[in-house]
Amino acid sequence: MKIVAPKECADFERRVALTPEVSRKLADLGHEVVIEKGAGVEAGMPDAAYEAMGAKIAKDAKSLYQDADIIIRVSPPLEDEIKVLPKDSLLIGMLKPYGNQKLATALAKRKITAFALEWIPRISRAQSMDVLSSQSNLAGYKAVIDAAAEFGRAMPMMMTAAGMIPPARALILGAGVAGLQAIATARRLGAIVSAFDVRPAVKEQVESLGATFIEVESAESGEGAGGYAKEMSADYQKRQQARLEDVMRQQDIVITTAQIPGKTAPILISAKMIKEMKAGSVIVDLAVESGGNCAASVAGQVVVKDGVKILGHPNFPSRIPFDASQVYARNVFNFLKLLLGADGKTLAVDWEDDIVKGAALTHEGDVIHPALKEAAKKEKEI
Ligand code: NAI
Repeated sequence: MKIVAPKECADFERRVALTPEVSRKLADLGHEVVIEKGAGVEAGMPDAAYEAMGAKIAKDAKSLYQDADIIIRVSPPLEDEIKVLPKDSLLIGMLKPYGNQKLATALAKRKITAFALEWIPRISRAQSMDVLSSQSNLAGYKAVIDAAAEFGRAMPMMMTAAGMIPPARALILGAGVAGLQAIATARRLGAIVSAFDVRPAVKEQVESLGATFIEVESAESGEGAGGYAKEMSADYQKRQQARLEDVMRQQDIVITTAQIPGKTAPILISAKMIKEMKAGSVIVDLAVESGGNCAASVAGQVVVKDGVKILGHPNFPSRIPFDASQVYARNVFNFLKLLLGADGKTLAVDWEDDIVKGAALTHEGDVIHPALKEAAKKEKEI
């Protein structure tokens, strides 16, 4: 089969969906692997590295897509691009599927079988395909590194002949995959770390990484479906805000990662909290693309408010593009293996498999994922 990866065109996207390593694995299985010219350059993978691993280089998108059987992407294709994807081809990528009716309908119309990797269920068997984890992990790491670079002071305590430099205090809001990696990274750099999450289950994980868990007095648990957080009541939010106001005043670095899948991110940091922080403190809002955890963060900007720097970089994994692409491509390869037959050469999709069902967005001209199916049906009827 012809398996291709384009040069990504979304803003702030520096990753590439196929790496030389995975190209070699696919070529070894007998597939024709084609990469669009320059697709890996921003991630530190030049065309020659792909060629050395058995991939071909297409000079433009048109020749890339011609007769392609499987298209592998990082971000969703743009409207114009969908029109040139070969009919009946298979598309795999992080398609930002939540509520994205327009994309689902366009792909169905084009008779593309599309899989949204974000929707792979988080079960043990699918761990090696979990792009949310592989990308969030690196985002959590990079958020701390970027915060440290913007922070005008040192992270660890230092005893010098000229006196003592105190350690930085870092607070991590949301202790999921990104948050736990942020805790570990800030600890490695020598900061005193504390963390907060609405899911009490993470307390143990936070403490095992050497951080203090911030407790909010309430009988309400934030544990929602599938291990994710749920939206909290107004009463809980009030208690949480009062607790965080206390804690925030002492912090130098705050990394926020709180998200609720498919919903706007909760606002955890108010203008008042920022005002009361020490000048020179740094906030990194990893949830900025889903609305932001910080009232003052702006996607794509570094805002300075009351002396506090607020980093609103979108697409954090893309800020560490080499490693993010490496793990992404491996996730994709593991998912692809599930779609291929035992020989690894031809498609043999088991439509009853939970992972396949979970990730499938469109097939044979229809939107088939339950989250978008009904709305798509109505649209078709109109
Ligand atoms: P996420 O990116 O959806 O959210 C990040 C964190 O923000 C979560 O820990 C969530 O509880 C927290 N949060 C939400 N609202 C908040 C609020 N108002 N205040 C403070 N924190 C708030 O979550 P992520 O990192 O994708 O992980 C979600 C779950 O999936 C976790 O339980 C994790 O253990 C689980 N998981 C399971 C895997 C598996 O293979 N079984 C693999 C990876 C994650």
